[in-house]
Amino acid sequence: MHQNTLCVHAGTRNDRGEGVNNPIEPSAPFAYLDAKEPIYPRYFNTPGQDALVERLCALEHAADGLLFSSGMAAISTALFSLLQQGDHAVLQRDIYGGTQHLVTSQFERLGIAYDLVPATSEAFAAAIRPETRVLYIETPSNPLLRITDIAAAATLAREHGLVSIIDNTFASPMNQNPIDLGIDLVVHSGTKYLGGHSDLCCGVALGSHKLIERLLATARTLGGSVNPLTCYLLERSLKTLALRIERQNSNAQQLAERLRNLPGIACVHYPGLPEHPDHDVARRQMRGFGGMIAFELADDAPDTSRFQRHLRLIKPAISLGGVDTLICAPGLTSHRDLTPKERAEQGISERLLRLSVGIEAPDDLFYDLEQAVKEPLPEIL
Ligand SMILES: Cc1ncc(COP(=O)(O)O)c(C=O)c1O
Repeated sequence: MHQNTLCVHAGTRNDRGEGVNNPIEPSAPFAYLDAKEPIYPRYFNTPGQDALVERLCALEHAADGLLFSSGMAAISTALFSLLQQGDHAVLQRDIYGGTQHLVTSQFERLGIAYDLVPATSEAFAAAIRPETRVLYIETPSNPLLRITDIAAAATLAREHGLVSIIDNTFASPMNQNPIDLGIDLVVHSGTKYLGGHSDLCCGVALGSHKLIERLLATARTLGGSVNPLTCYLLERSLKTLALRIERQNSNAQQLAERLRNLPGIACVHYPGLPEHPDHDVARRQMRGFGGMIAFELADDAPDTSRFQRHLRLIKPAISLGGVDTLICAPGLTSHRDLTPKERAEQGISERLLRLSVGIEAPDDLFYDLEQAVKEPLPEIL
């Protein structure tokens, strides 16, 4: 079946003839006498969790998966399941700040070594050691939307016997399916595109049965399982995932093309633009270029704070992936803790803004950005 159909139907338990949607199950304990194993939310095996995992597996072309209470619960459980004292991990440098913080704040304490390196096969290969166990990537990256070659990373990991992990949050399963390109484990912050309405928090890890079994033992101990109401919200959200992503892709492409010609905008970062440095890789591995754009305000435009305050429709807020268009300045938010020099090294200027494009009419979004950039600078007294 096509992805659009799977979004609506995969994992629907209509065998009980009860309705078109799976029931919400507010139960923590379940009757156990006739069960193969005890069912319990923290064992990651309630019927509601199973149904959603089935739908997400269908969308990501995975055999098995686990649903978590947040993206970070999925990511930390995955890394702590696959790494132990004495091991080493190679990670792409420009990963989500929370993941980077997890690595830099926890790994050393646990005796796990790591290298955060530029996202090229050469840099990954140079960092691999005999004790390396995991190669971790994220593409498109945050906030500059650089693209990592997924197949090349997966091949390198396989050649060295490493587990390859990708954070597929920014692309969503509609725009790329890393497992088809050889990746072992896909993680998502379901809080973003999968949820899509900025009203839930969850995470996902998807891979082979064997790999998910490895994660499950740690997952049950760490206990980052999701609640039944979030299961219901996520199931409802996934039904419109294909439609939302289609619209967000097309809105983002249109906005990127129009913004690059708008006076006051110095440059636009979007993998769907032919001048983007990774456009060819993006075309090879993505079906759509996604709903995230980054752009820089020119020196004669307002600064990022003033620009954001002047927006009337687009909301300054830090999350992404929802139906509402949101904007944030990475220099003031996700990358605030870096020194200006470190930010500059990562290509994050003080005039950079990140836009998570929603499903509104693209004209309305463009006019909002246009009027905010035209705002006259205050006179210097
Ligand atoms: C790419 C990416 N991965 C993971 C996370 C963490 O997800 P959560 O906030 O659901 O824990 C985020 C959150 O912003 C993210 O943007």
